[in-house]
Amino acid sequence: MNQDTSKTNAAKEAVKLIRNGMVVGLGTGSTAKIAVDLIGRKLSDNFQIIGMPTSVKTEEQAKDLGISLIEIDQAETIDIAIDGADEVAPDLSLIKGLGGALLREKKVEKKAKELIIIVDESKIVERLGEGFLPVEVSVENHELTRNEITELGCTAELRIEDDSLPFITDNQNYIYHCKFENGIQNPRELDNNLLEIDGVIDTGLFIDMASKVIIGTSNGTKIIE
Ligand code: A5P
Repeated sequence: MNQDTSKTNAAKEAVKLIRNGMVVGLGTGSTAKIAVDLIGRKLSDNFQIIGMPTSVKTEEQAKDLGISLIEIDQAETIDIAIDGADEVAPDLSLIKGLGGALLREKKVEKKAKELIIIVDESKIVERLGEGFLPVEVSVENHELTRNEITELGCTAELRIEDDSLPFITDNQNYIYHCKFENGIQNPRELDNNLLEIDGVIDTGLFIDMASKVIIGTSNGTKIIE
């Protein structure tokens, strides 16, 4: 499977859903980046949108493409958001955030009337938790927070960068990558339990948020909704 072609096919299909004048949540990651590029290329006198970026990186990309932007607090609802995901379960629950932007992604995408997820087939899982679940935590007392997280039955590793320093999110927090040996049995309960821990800012579990998942393949797309 050519992953780039699959991602591009998914992104193209998603961008077709955007209408002139819409306020669009602009996702983060390699698949969302393709969609943002396609939106940029589509801009004309007859096609203008307003973007709400989900990360500093996407904001820079969108500015370079000449997309008009607004901040998160400038609109209570937005028409549509397009973003990638790390895992997609059959009920459209998701793990997101391995790109490090989960907090802003969730804030923007909760406002969206429609959240369109674009992925290649490698992201489809039977049960969430095949890979890591990213959890964003405050830097302050983060080791104590980690200990409480692991009491929920996972290992939790601080995300470290190539320079051996912890990864810092756009919101100046750390990320722990959590691994549940047999996957996540009950994502909703886990999400609630994680959010109750002091120091946990947000989790990469996106439950009841996606309206449609567009799976790019080497020669087209498949849709789950
Ligand atoms: C960014 O923080 C993530 O939520 C991404 O949307 C996710 O990691 C998917 O990224 P790719 O499209 O690069 O796989």
